[in-house]
Amino acid sequence: MTAPPRPAGSYDPAATTSGGLAGELARLEAQAALSFDQELRILREAGLTEASGPLVEVGAGSGAVTRRLRTALPGLSLTAVDIDADLLAYAEGCGARTLVADAADLPLETGSAGCVLLRYVLQHLSDPRPALAEALRVLRPGGLIAVTEIDDACWGLATPSYPELATVHAKSAAAQQSAGGDRTIGRRTTRLLRRAGFDGVDLRPFATTNDYRPTEDFAPHLGPGRLQPLVASGAVSLGEFALAADRWNRFRTDPDAWVMLLGLTATATAPYPL
Ligand SMILES: C[S@@+](CC[C@H](N)C(=O)[O-])C[C@H]1O[C@@H](n2cnc3c(N)ncnc32)[C@H](O)[C@@H]1O
Repeated sequence: MTAPPRPAGSYDPAATTSGGLAGELARLEAQAALSFDQELRILREAGLTEASGPLVEVGAGSGAVTRRLRTALPGLSLTAVDIDADLLAYAEGCGARTLVADAADLPLETGSAGCVLLRYVLQHLSDPRPALAEALRVLRPGGLIAVTEIDDACWGLATPSYPELATVHAKSAAAQQSAGGDRTIGRRTTRLLRRAGFDGVDLRPFATTNDYRPTEDFAPHLGPGRLQPLVASGAVSLGEFALAADRWNRFRTDPDAWVMLLGLTATATAPYPL
């Protein structure tokens, strides 16, 4: 199958973190491992059961979450969709049907899905509205949509904090923004869902802390890995990268360091016809 052309958007798996594609695959796994339990709790609270399928995970990437859904809800029918055929190939064999497609043009029947999940996808789209309209089209009435995102303005809390890294973090966010993404999408998801025509829109935040996990597990979010491609592109200097690496090293070896990451899941349902 030929992959559709990559639409305007900011996600390039080979240039997201250090180590190219292999590094990104590891980062996606670590990111899913960190908060999946909480995300699953939220999905269940929003009504997800093994009978809620088919669940269509749009922008499923390498299947880091698809695999975990398969284990947690073995009876749930799963379809993993991604625009990137190479990345989606890593989701093969995890018990989900895989489809290479654009979120804005899903090869699925109208009203055929019981649930649509979009996890860290909308932030990469230059315009998230067509993807939400398409999710609404494929959901049956009463079907559940869950959109998990972040917002840079309330990403969480870390102590000790390093104000000297503010510039480098701003440069990182600006790089994604200029590539067509939006790291402040979290504040827009409920309004986007409402305007797309969904009912029962709700925002369910979740927090992940190092109270129960080693600080090291937070490396995908706090470590300097994600800055490395920005050094290569010239957006971040080697000095800034070294500063970020040094502060992460201090943080992860500080027994009193505390971190809380905030994720935002917006949930809603497809309306019943009047
Ligand atoms: C940050 S990754 C998240 C992957 C996965 N949801 C997870 O949480 O592990 C973003 C994913 O969205 C996919 N994506 C970006 N634009 C897309 C589009 N227009 N249609 C479908 N998938 C898209 C990318 O290929 C990538 O797999």
